[in-house]
Amino acid sequence: MRFQSKVVLITGAAGGLGEASTRRFASEGANLILTDLDQEKVETLAAKCRAEYGSTVLTSAGDVSEETVVNGLVQAGLEAFGRIDILFNNAGINPTGNVVDTPLAVWDLTMKVNLRSAFLMTSRVIPSMIEAGGGVIVNTASIASFKASTNEAAYSVSKAALLQLTKVTARDFADLNIRVNAVCPGILENFMADRKVISSEEMMAERRARVREIVPFKREGRYEEIANLVAFLACDESSYVTGAAFTADGGLTV
Ligand SMILES: NC(=O)c1ccc[n+]([C@@H]2O[C@H](COP(=O)([O-])OP(=O)(O)OC[C@H]3O[C@@H](n4cnc5c(N)ncnc54)[C@H](O)[C@@H]3O)[C@@H](O)[C@H]2O)c1
Repeated sequence: MRFQSKVVLITGAAGGLGEASTRRFASEGANLILTDLDQEKVETLAAKCRAEYGSTVLTSAGDVSEETVVNGLVQAGLEAFGRIDILFNNAGINPTGNVVDTPLAVWDLTMKVNLRSAFLMTSRVIPSMIEAGGGVIVNTASIASFKASTNEAAYSVSKAALLQLTKVTARDFADLNIRVNAVCPGILENFMADRKVISSEEMMAERRARVREIVPFKREGRYEEIANLVAFLACDESSYVTGAAFTADGGLTV
């Protein structure tokens, strides 16, 4: 029970990695603050955590790239639990396009959701962590943070910047007992971009064949496998780790 009585705030909680990580934290005793754009899904997940793990859960639906939403969320979390021990910045979007065909609005939205939200959450949560004597932040970056991904210009740039946000924050707050690290997943079982373009079993089979060809493990990653890494970075087992990017991609970038 590595997270007994710890307070964990998770953004993008209703998505694939958000739910797997929520379950990992809940199963090890955490109190949860769950937030997502999708209110229904986040409420359903919270109800499951209460029923299955006996978790205490605060939920909130909203856009975590908006300052007022983040301020309200952090305030509500602190009022409910008194502190936030672990912040998991995980909300993200994955539009496709190169620099020519990416509309400016899509570029701006990607930076807003994938980067500004993490900046806002981090800057609003850290003061309470300092007051409490420390804390841990985990950011969901991507292998696209360091390897240019074809036809994902805005996404790759936003995730590269998120990795740098991880590092500068780790440096600036290391002496205040705040650790900041990033997980960098490769291709996961339900790849975000694919949900928009894969509409048939045949296309899914083609995609699986492609994954077998390019990924040394010959399969996609499972959300639970990334959630295990998130939990490792969030708990005391990684007490000497900060500013690091942990890749989990089945060998894709080796
Ligand atoms: N799925 C992959 O293959 C993959 C690979 C590398 C990195 N990632 C990263 O992992 C994270 C989670 O991805 P996923 O696969 O679980 O995707 P997902 O789409 O299942 O989950 C993302 C969640 O974020 C929420 N969200 C989006 N914009 C938001 C906003 N402005 N405010 C609040 N919530 C918002 C969505 O509602 C959704 O529930 C993302 O940051 C993504 O970039 C995913």
